[in-house]
Amino acid sequence: MQNAYQKMDTAELKAAIAELEREVEETRAKELKLDMARGKPSPEQVNISRPMLDILTSDADLMDEGVDCSNYGCFEGIPSARRLAGEFIGVPPEQTIVLGSSSLNIMQSILIHYWEKGVPGYTPWSKLDHVKFLCPAPGYDRHFGITQDLGIENVPVRMTETGPDMDEVERLLAEDDSIKGMFCVPKYSNPTGVTYSEETVRRLATCKAAPDFRIVWDNAYAVHDLTDDGDKLANIFDIAREAGNEDRILGVASTSKITFPGAGIAFFGSSPANVVEVANTLKVGLISANKLNQLMHTRFLPDLDAVHEHMRKHAEFLRPRFDAVERKLSEGLGGTGCATWTHPNGGYFVSFDGPEGSAKRIAALCAELGVKLTPAGATWPYGNDPHDTNIRIAPTYPSVDELEAALDVLVLATKLVSAQLALEER
Ligand SMILES: Cc1ncc(COP(=O)(O)O)c(C=O)c1O
Repeated sequence: MQNAYQKMDTAELKAAIAELEREVEETRAKELKLDMARGKPSPEQVNISRPMLDILTSDADLMDEGVDCSNYGCFEGIPSARRLAGEFIGVPPEQTIVLGSSSLNIMQSILIHYWEKGVPGYTPWSKLDHVKFLCPAPGYDRHFGITQDLGIENVPVRMTETGPDMDEVERLLAEDDSIKGMFCVPKYSNPTGVTYSEETVRRLATCKAAPDFRIVWDNAYAVHDLTDDGDKLANIFDIAREAGNEDRILGVASTSKITFPGAGIAFFGSSPANVVEVANTLKVGLISANKLNQLMHTRFLPDLDAVHEHMRKHAEFLRPRFDAVERKLSEGLGGTGCATWTHPNGGYFVSFDGPEGSAKRIAALCAELGVKLTPAGATWPYGNDPHDTNIRIAPTYPSVDELEAALDVLVLATKLVSAQLALEER
């Protein structure tokens, strides 16, 4: 299907480019300085959690169900926090560990552990000739960074509207034992906002794979709904257990985008055997995590109902921003055939695709005009978007006015680059 510029005759197209170039010069003169790259909550959102900071005063009770949070001990996490972790991850509290502030840090520690020591009973990944990980793309660049840093080959698998392309995943896993893992953000995926369908979850939990194949089930956006009618995610642990694949799933989540990014609490949940093994490894380097922070969190957010109530306050700030993205993109690009974008019900991002060969040029033009975007290509392993189409839009941090101004620039840049490409291909 041709886009609006491809359909024009050459004289019309040249006139359209001249007009768009004039608009670009007008925009350049405004000397904008806007940032649509940061996947983090706005300052107003972070402020929602400030009352939590008043909970632990010098005379507060620092016991949690018999555990003294003011001293060493209770490595796996305090009882109230493990209960919350279980609700988050979808496993019993005994099958969780609550750690410091970062789930990314937990993922890295576990993968380094398997790299050095192997999944119990199997060869350490570092001793194998070649190790690969499946990376749903567009996806989260920091996931890809963990495996790339270890020398693991990142193999992209295209995301669809129901999750990763499962025909491709099953085909690759069935024929290649060197694939030892896969990254999944199953709810409101970063950056597409897709929630995996029940069928996708089932196929991931049950498909044939190497016995030491592990899925990093990163439920970073488990409770980040924009409305009360959020997406529902099937419980992968229940399905994997029935299929005898319980050890396959490594669940993680954190309160980074619930309370304070970088100062929240992070959760690990998996099979009973994995939890014991991972705890034994992590205990080598940690006597106990910050239990006062765990206590502060669970006094503020004692259970998942309280978390949902809290997330409604976040959604008040997020909805107008996601609405602005949808409105500006539809007004500016709807019907042109130059771009598609996602319409998530939650999470932190919108995934945007321009014409083939456009993303790097669009991002560069936006940067020239004072609008910073996540680098084009970052959503693919090694920064290599094979068709150079994808741009991650992070609408949460800027104010609505700033966001609208930044989206106007993105629309303009997309139109000009699309028109230029249409002329160049003649
Ligand atoms: C999918 C995903 N996982 C993990 C993280 C980081 O989480 P944490 O702060 O718990 O390390 C992010 C942050 O953007 C994310 O998008």
